[in-house]
Amino acid sequence: MSSKAERKRLIKGAGYNVFQLKIDDIYIDLLTDSGTSAMSDKQWAAMFTTKQAYAGSNSYYQLEKVVKDLFGFKYFVPVHQGRAGEHLLFSSMVKRGGVVPNNSHFDTTKANVKLVGGVPKDFVVKEAYRSKKKVAFKGNMDLVKLEDFVRKNKAKIPLIMTTITNNTVGGQAVSMANIKGTSQIARKYKIPFFIDACRFAENAYFIKIRERGYKSKTIKEIVREMFSYADGCTFSGKKDALTNIGGVVGVNSREVFEKLRTMLVVTEGFPTYGGMACRELASMAIGLQESTKESYLEYRYEQVSYLWEKLYRAGIPTVNPAGGHAVFIDGKKFFDHIPQEQFPSQTLAVELYIEAGVRGVELGTSCFGEIDSKTGKLILPKLDLLRLAIPRRVYTDKHMSYVAEGVIKIYQKRKKIKGLKRVYAPSLLGHFLAKFDRL
Ligand code: F0G
Repeated sequence: MSSKAERKRLIKGAGYNVFQLKIDDIYIDLLTDSGTSAMSDKQWAAMFTTKQAYAGSNSYYQLEKVVKDLFGFKYFVPVHQGRAGEHLLFSSMVKRGGVVPNNSHFDTTKANVKLVGGVPKDFVVKEAYRSKKKVAFKGNMDLVKLEDFVRKNKAKIPLIMTTITNNTVGGQAVSMANIKGTSQIARKYKIPFFIDACRFAENAYFIKIRERGYKSKTIKEIVREMFSYADGCTFSGKKDALTNIGGVVGVNSREVFEKLRTMLVVTEGFPTYGGMACRELASMAIGLQESTKESYLEYRYEQVSYLWEKLYRAGIPTVNPAGGHAVFIDGKKFFDHIPQEQFPSQTLAVELYIEAGVRGVELGTSCFGEIDSKTGKLILPKLDLLRLAIPRRVYTDKHMSYVAEGVIKIYQKRKKIKGLKRVYAPSLLGHFLAKFDRL
């Protein structure tokens, strides 16, 4: 573990952007739960025993069996990660000026809609913006607003999406009733409905423990029901398939599938490997079976809740309740003296690294703030959060206690801390490469 003095120097050298730090300079890495899970003995074993082939790999058929069994779509293509799937899907379905409604787009989803000339639009329920309020399904789509918009703009909408769990507003759950309701609107107006399914297993667990009528259903039954309402999905295997790389696009339409497959061959690879080494497909097939086991999901939920409880009890303004994959802290409330233009959650990410060697990530003004093309001014997103994403099967609860201690120490001296000024950011997904200075 490095010293505080070293970390002060390192974060300055990184332009006060935690994405620019080296992993060896980090003690506990809560930057993301994506691609950072520990793989099981069974996953590693499957990786060793699969055959590497350009065409017809056995791991493709292994994955096909699991994907069809769980997701139930007629067709699927493997892709090297979620955003590759998003790119294939949006370039196949979205034309210039097309509007894509979602409960909340994640940053890459939003960027991929824009890249093909589309307009991403969010319709999450208003409770999502009230971080303190405890609501069971805070990730839901606002169905009234969605239907009103769809009725008026039907011709411009190539597809409707919903993201489970809703990462952008705090890894919050989406209820089965809401998925069904969104699907009914999509079907009424004859618009395809897709699920951004990155954390589908965690969402299924939330449905099981929080939604009436699902307590005695198995996770698999819940998963199948969720996907039965959709026409397809994009999926990053780096989350709920417990792999380091990988993804899937599932779809029922033969026509869309053929477009996806053509694009896949041109940009990613042959359909039986999809831009990956065949062993990655094997690890996804096993990981999908492991992540949908109830005992695993119970452990996962308990660990995230453990960290959340420690912070909540110490009076830290967390997003309430805990998310499925992460604990989110409301940066604007944590540093109520730092204006949003001075990146409060980014400031907290910097301070947490200096204090404890822990890396979290800002999901707020740096990540989601957009520059108004006419005025050149920064448009502030409603939420400015620090996310502490917990890799699956990696850390112990003791590590989580240490993280909580670090956050609490900063909270105690928060008034002495000043915000940041952004000095550089590329136009699309700027937060990865942004540079800041201390004020
Ligand atoms: N959709 C959601 C909801 C996501 O959270 C992510 C990735 C993606 C799509 C894209 O998947 O990374 O495999 O290309 N989220 C990661 C995160 C990066 O840290 O939340 P990908």
